[in-house]
Parts: sequence; structure tokens; C-alpha cells
Amino acid sequence: MSLVWQQPLPEIYTQLSDAELRLRIESARETLGKRLVILGHHYQQDAVIDFADFTGDSFELSRKAADEKNIDYVIFCGVHFMAESADILTNENVRVILPDLGAGCSMADMANLDQTEDAWAQLQETCPDQTIVPITYMNSSAAIKAFVGEHGGAVCTSSNCRNVLEWALRGGAVENHDRAKKVKILFFPDQHLGRNTAFAMGYPLDKMVVWDPKQDLGGNSERALIDADFVLWKGHCSVHALFRPEHVDQVRAKYPSMKVIVHPECKWEVVQKADMAGSTAYIVKQIEAAPPGSEWAIGTEVHLVHRLAQQHPDQKIIVLSDCQCLCTTMFRVDLPHVCWTLENLVEGKVVNEIKVDAHTRKWATVALERMLAIKGTGNPIGKQQPVGTTVD
Ligand code: 13P
Ligand code: SF4
Repeated sequence: MSLVWQQPLPEIYTQLSDAELRLRIESARETLGKRLVILGHHYQQDAVIDFADFTGDSFELSRKAADEKNIDYVIFCGVHFMAESADILTNENVRVILPDLGAGCSMADMANLDQTEDAWAQLQETCPDQTIVPITYMNSSAAIKAFVGEHGGAVCTSSNCRNVLEWALRGGAVENHDRAKKVKILFFPDQHLGRNTAFAMGYPLDKMVVWDPKQDLGGNSERALIDADFVLWKGHCSVHALFRPEHVDQVRAKYPSMKVIVHPECKWEVVQKADMAGSTAYIVKQIEAAPPGSEWAIGTEVHLVHRLAQQHPDQKIIVLSDCQCLCTTMFRVDLPHVCWTLENLVEGKVVNEIKVDAHTRKWATVALERMLAIKGTGNPIGKQQPVGTTVD
């Protein structure tokens, strides 16, 4: 997404109190009625979540966007790549709005199309006798999703990564895939989700290499690239990368009966030390199903952890570390920006529209629809399982 510019809000919006903003948001929503849906990612601040018609992780929100057929506007309270996916999955006439254009994702910005095309050409040349299937995490630009769609691959989220990888390892949708050929996965842009999921599926770490787009052959030897089953793009989430293995040790020492549950964007060493790992929706489900008195240290974005602690006062819930694991870009979407976008809509003006061009939309749709058609929302876990174990 890089280099998008958010115009400063008219001064009035920065001067209104929260109570005034709330009243004005409610009134604008009432005027717009069923023409509008507000979607909120789990990491969003509480004040914004209060106005979300639907809250979820990337997978649930993309499903929700795809299901919305009779609306005019989606206000996406998340980050840029999520709004792009919503634009791709909704009907052409639906206008998708990101309340603050500065709400990007540092991970998605770690892979661009030029680098991707270059990596693809080098891999094809190095491994001519293999089928390479590109898979991209939802947290990537529409351009990368389109590339993946055009080359026989699919999108995945942290909720369904394992199912998508299993599909890809059977050759994905690569035309004329010869079953006798070795399949290699090129996984964008989060090396940690790729590594954690592949490892949970039974692949040893020495079958994975990291692709550094700044180096020839991604910084690997030809032999290493030929032997690898997974080529993991050198990207990461700057929020989840803050969790370290010693944080798990500290929690275990202080609270021996506490369970540690982390997001698979955390480093492999952290996931290995944790009791469980899964998407934000998976984490929410575990807490909701836990009996009173349960104790949890959660390794994910701080707003979600605090909300879970508030919603479940009968459980002890803490953030895995006090490193302030805050998604600062998502945090830019706040009540003043939501109010500003809504009041403009009431006046018939669409501000901050996210629109994906026709070619990108066509192929990104293919990649997203392949994902939505793949059965199951299995969650990677921290323990190694035999290759071929299916998670439903
Ligand atoms: P999920 O919503 O897929 O759990 O991903 C977390 C995240 O980092 C969103 O940006
Ligand atoms: Fe991107 Fe990480 Fe923020 Fe998710 S939590 S939007 S991956 S920076």
C-alpha cells in the first residue's frame, strides 16, 4: 500500500468530546440505515468496536464482506489490505471506506510486486522440474493476491493456513500440474505463519528457506532452493515479533498453572514454548469455551487481550508480555475518523474510498475465492504432527 496520504481532519472533529462524537456517529448511522455495514477487526480499539455491526478476524471479515449483497457502503475499521479484500469480495457498486488512509500494515508492505515477479523468475529458473505454488497471507497487497491468483495459488488467513497449504501441496490450481513433480510453496509475506504452519504439518525446519528479496536467489544457494519444500518470504508482523521465548519462561515461573496461547505470527521459538497457537478467532473461541478460574497469558495484540479480560472477569487473562504489543496503524482508526467518514456519507460524499483496479481485482478475486472454497478452518498448533494430518 505504501505512501498513501490521509488529509488532516476538519478541526471540529478533533475538538468534539467522545460523547459528542458518539451521538453524531449514531445519528449518521441511523440516517444511512441498512445501506451501510461497519466491520471491525478484533484488534480495533473498544470505542470503535462499539459501532461495529460485525467483529472478527481477517477470515471472518472477508467472509462477511463476501456475503453482503444489498448494501451501498462498507466502513472497514481495520487496515488497508483488509479494506482492499472487502472491495474485491463485494459487488462492484459497493463503496469500501477506510476511515484513516494511514492505517496500513508493516507486514503487507514487506512484499511488493516487482520483488515478487523477480523472486518468481529466479525460482522458476532454479527449479525447472518442480511445480511452484504461490500462497499469500491475507496480510498482503491486492497486487500480490492477484499475482498469486494468476499463478495457480490462493490467499490464506491465520484461520485456514493449514488447509490452504494442504491444497497447495497437491498442486493448487497450477495448470497442467504433473503429479510426479515435487511441489514447492512460495509463501508471502509472513515467514512466521508459514514456518509455524508447515512445522505443525510435520515439515522439519531444514525443509524451509527464507527468501530475502534484497539478495540474489533470496540469499540461498541453488541446492538449498531445490531441496526446500517451503520458500518463506522474509516478512513479519512488527507487533507479534515483539513476543520472545523468555516471556513464556517468565509467565511459567510466575504463574505455573497459566496456559500460554499465542498467534502464529509469533516467532517459531515462541510458538514452540506456548501451549496453543491459532488465529485471533481461535484465541477468542478458546477463552469463550474455558471454565471460570482459567488462567491465560495471550500473545497477540493488546486491544484484543484487554477486551477478552473485560468480557471474562471470572478468568485471569494477561498479555504475554508488557511490551506494549499495539498495532499502531490499526489504532489510527478512531472515533473522529469514523464520524468524519460517516457524516460525509450522509452528505453524499465518499471519502477514503479503497478501490482496486480491474485487472488486479480479477485475479485477486480468483485467489480469494479459491481460499473461500477450501474446506475447514484448521488452526496451526505448536506441536509437530505427521505430514498429511488434516485439521477440520
Ligand atoms: P488474523 O485476523 O487472521 O488473526 O490476523 C491477525 C492480524 O495480524 C491481522 O492483521
Ligand atoms: Fe499488520 Fe501486524 Fe498490525 Fe496485523 S497486527 S495489521 S500483521 S502490523
